Amino acid sequence: MLFDDRFDRRDFLATLAALGVSNVAALKALAQDSMPLRRVPSTGEELPIIGLGSSKVISEIGANGTEPVAAILRTLLEHGGRVIDTWPRDPANDSGFGRVLAEPGIAGRPFVTTKVSEDGAAGVNQLETSLRSYGMDTIDLAQVFSLTDLYTHWPTLKGWKESGKARYIGVTVSNYDLYDELETFLASETPDFMQVNYSISERRAEERLLPLAQDRGIAVIINRPFMNGDYFRRLANVPLPDWAAASGIHSWAEFSLKYILPHPALTTVLTETSNPVHMAENAMASYGAMPDDATRQRMAAYIDAL
Ligand SMILES: NC(=O)c1ccc[n+]([C@@H]2O[C@H](COP(=O)([O-])OP(=O)(O)OC[C@H]3O[C@@H](n4cnc5c(N)ncnc54)[C@H](OP(=O)(O)O)[C@@H]3O)[C@@H](O)[C@H]2O)c1
Repeated sequence: MLFDDRFDRRDFLATLAALGVSNVAALKALAQDSMPLRRVPSTGEELPIIGLGSSKVISEIGANGTEPVAAILRTLLEHGGRVIDTWPRDPANDSGFGRVLAEPGIAGRPFVTTKVSEDGAAGVNQLETSLRSYGMDTIDLAQVFSLTDLYTHWPTLKGWKESGKARYIGVTVSNYDLYDELETFLASETPDFMQVNYSISERRAEERLLPLAQDRGIAVIINRPFMNGDYFRRLANVPLPDWAAASGIHSWAEFSLKYILPHPALTTVLTETSNPVHMAENAMASYGAMPDDATRQRMAAYIDAL
């Protein structure tokens, strides 16, 4: 990682203090130089393990302007993250996002994904629109959204990779209903990336898909780490267990992320947020000690018992 991408220790401690983390032992345990990286198996390229989901702030550029998303993205970059997941909306909105990607301090740093989410020719147009709107010749990762018209789009994506329009190609799912179809696809194809839902409250990917990705050398992007916010709503009146702090866990956001992050299959976890403080908190969940297997089991049992 470039030195510029590293989160300065003084900034780091100041952000921790702003988040209310003041315990000296916790600060020492958390204080480290940079966000951990994981390798993309197909190339060995390293990516930071916390990313930004295709957030509401991106879809609201038309209404609210570009500064809200720029602020979130700067926060992610300042904390050592780089991956941002997107999909094309409308050209006016997406060209606003393109202007954010060209801003000084942001330009050239994010790892940008896009998706094809419509059938047939309309889907191919979506890819072209992303490139044009984002002002990129090459997208970092082009994905088939929720396996939409998969066997039409997959050859197109392969062509994109061959011609240099996409550095990597992949597929996404975000609910259990598509797991069997994804497994069938993986029996004959090896995408660079697959995106799958996984969290402390949605753990089924552990059974087959995550081990399969490891065996096959497929990078894994995790989505729905907070079940699109349902996780927080369910836990609104539930206290953190008193043993959580000893594992470096001080919030429900950290509780889910620190459960997910130690999984050896994952490359990056996408967190969706419109709030820079939440972005910082999510990024910082990757700093410091991670729970061991026994603690992860205890965490899962605690959630299951609620
Ligand atoms: N099939 C697909 O390809 C697919 C499907 C689903 C999702 N995804 C990807 O995965 C990403 C993430 O999944 P998701 O959309 O289900 O969202 P998520 O990250 O599981 O949850 C987002 C919700 O959590 C809240 N939140 C985030 N950080 C928080 C924090 N530290 N404290 C309290 N609340 C917090 C956000 O509210 P605030 O805005 O207030 O922070 C928002 O309501 C998406 O953005 C998208 O890129 C892909």
